[in-house]
Amino acid sequence: MAKIYSEVSRFDAKSTNRDDEVATTSGVLNLPTKIIPEASELTEHGNAIVISVVNQKGGVGKTTTTINLGACLAELGRRVLLIDFDPQHSLSVGLGISTRKLDGSIYNLMMDESTNIEDLLLKTSVPGMDMIPSHEDLAGAEGGLLNVIAREKVLKRVLAPVLDFYDVILIDCQPSLGLLTVNALTASQGVLVPLECEYFALRGVALLDDIIGKVQKNTNPDLQLTGILPTMFDRKTVHSREVLERISQAFPEKVFDTIISRTVRFPETTVAGEPITTYASNSSGASAYRRLARELIAMGGVR
Ligand SMILES: Nc1ncnc2c1ncn2[C@@H]1O[C@H](COP(=O)(O)OP(=O)(O)O)[C@@H](O)[C@H]1O
Ligand SMILES: [Mg+2]
Repeated sequence: MAKIYSEVSRFDAKSTNRDDEVATTSGVLNLPTKIIPEASELTEHGNAIVISVVNQKGGVGKTTTTINLGACLAELGRRVLLIDFDPQHSLSVGLGISTRKLDGSIYNLMMDESTNIEDLLLKTSVPGMDMIPSHEDLAGAEGGLLNVIAREKVLKRVLAPVLDFYDVILIDCQPSLGLLTVNALTASQGVLVPLECEYFALRGVALLDDIIGKVQKNTNPDLQLTGILPTMFDRKTVHSREVLERISQAFPEKVFDTIISRTVRFPETTVAGEPITTYASNSSGASAYRRLARELIAMGGVR
């Protein structure tokens, strides 16, 4: 596979694709190998595609995926905005942002219509990637929104002024399917579901699929399941493979070919406060998220 790349690749400086190190659904399930092409170059920016990263289970790789997929899309020249939409603010921490020193967070934007989103955009260490931090206060937002008119559409209104600047906005959701997550889904065109390769994971996806259907019916007919991303994969265990097989059967064509394997490098990046693409640029974890970014572009999930 590496050989094919060196033959087709035209941008040598950028073409450090190391896809042969990345576990893939097609590889694990003995299907024909998929080659993910180089990303197209964007000639103009804006009209952002919004994707929610959702799973009601915690610890499945939502925040890690949001940070690293975002960083890889930015590496490919996309203008990226990350929204930390979890009161536990792991995304802010993972990008080295101390929530104690902030002027405001997504909470203020959700609760106070006079707050301006442009005032709260923060640059990250990755060129081309900005973020909006979260705060523990966000935990109170679900109650606070109950009496608001069109309470499912608040985040959509909040994001509207910056859609013209960014190419992609990724929303890191909290592990629940409550009103905040419904706000994220209402503001999005796509849903990306990181799924831990463990038994019982499938049950959770069925529930999530149900919520997606309800949001499509009630507040956002354009919402699509972009894809299911196998995470915490362990090549050595039989059950990781079995879970992958079952997810692929239950959601044909919806499981990403790129798999995120379990590696200690990810917890290390949280401590470092930066994406794996800069913390350990040559690691297989970085290669996996780079391949995911190209796969997402190739399938039209983002431009
Ligand atoms: N592929 C992986 N391999 C090993 N550890 C991982 C991987 N992805 C994430 N982690 C770690 O697992 C924990 C939970 O991941 P996180 O992305 O915060 O999940 P979530 O946002 O779904 O709660 C974190 O400590 C993170 O560093
Ligand atoms: Mg998280």
